[in-house]
Amino acid sequence: MLAIIGGSGLGRLQGLEIRERKSVSTEYGEPSARLSFGRFHDLNVVFLARHGDHHSIPPHRINYRANIRALQSAGVTHIVSVAAVGGIGAHLPPATIAVPDQLIDYTHGRKSTFFEDPGTEVTHIDFTWPYSKGLIDRLGQSAELAGLKVVIGGTYGCTQGPRLETAAEILRMERDGCDMVGMTGMPEAALAREAGIEYACCAVMANWAAGKSPFEITMQEIERNLAKGLNDVALLLEKLVGLFEYP
Ligand code: HPA
Repeated sequence: MLAIIGGSGLGRLQGLEIRERKSVSTEYGEPSARLSFGRFHDLNVVFLARHGDHHSIPPHRINYRANIRALQSAGVTHIVSVAAVGGIGAHLPPATIAVPDQLIDYTHGRKSTFFEDPGTEVTHIDFTWPYSKGLIDRLGQSAELAGLKVVIGGTYGCTQGPRLETAAEILRMERDGCDMVGMTGMPEAALAREAGIEYACCAVMANWAAGKSPFEITMQEIERNLAKGLNDVALLLEKLVGLFEYP
């Protein structure tokens, strides 16, 4: 089953006919919100609001392990993570959608593995390509079907937040090869890989990253650009579910 994790601006998935909302508890605690099971354009999917139902959980306080474990126990095999990011590359202006194929983790202090409980064997997952190639391809196909311009590929840099970055931090990230910057990509992607779930990210440019435009970054600007980009995300996801074949 396909899961959509909704980020900032996507607290609910428009077009999802919710059939059941389930509170799930895991050995790592509670996920960000109840899991919403339902039909989205003729496919059974499950939706999870990453920042909680009231958008009140900041990126560094999200219980990523509980979120991924809850989805795994619900039978989820694929996750599309919708995430607000800042655009670093000149090809990624506000409201653009991108599907990254690489990431760099700048976060610290987050609980980032399932493989650390006493008695668990030391396990190193392969993370050379952190996102599912199959899902990236399907998102590219969906963009073509929807007639949307979506940038396929690019490097997502994940910062700790919740503050935005300094201009110097963004310049460093650019030198590192980052094309976009967000705060929730990790450890979510790594935990999905540990759980054996195919995972891809649909990133929406909410703003130019710090120092990439002469203007201060405001919440109003972020919300305006997200609203625009998320309309396209809904169209993209509608085409994506048409490429899945389970009942
Ligand atoms: N930086 C980090 N995370 C973000 C940004 C940003 O500029 N915009 C939206 N999420």
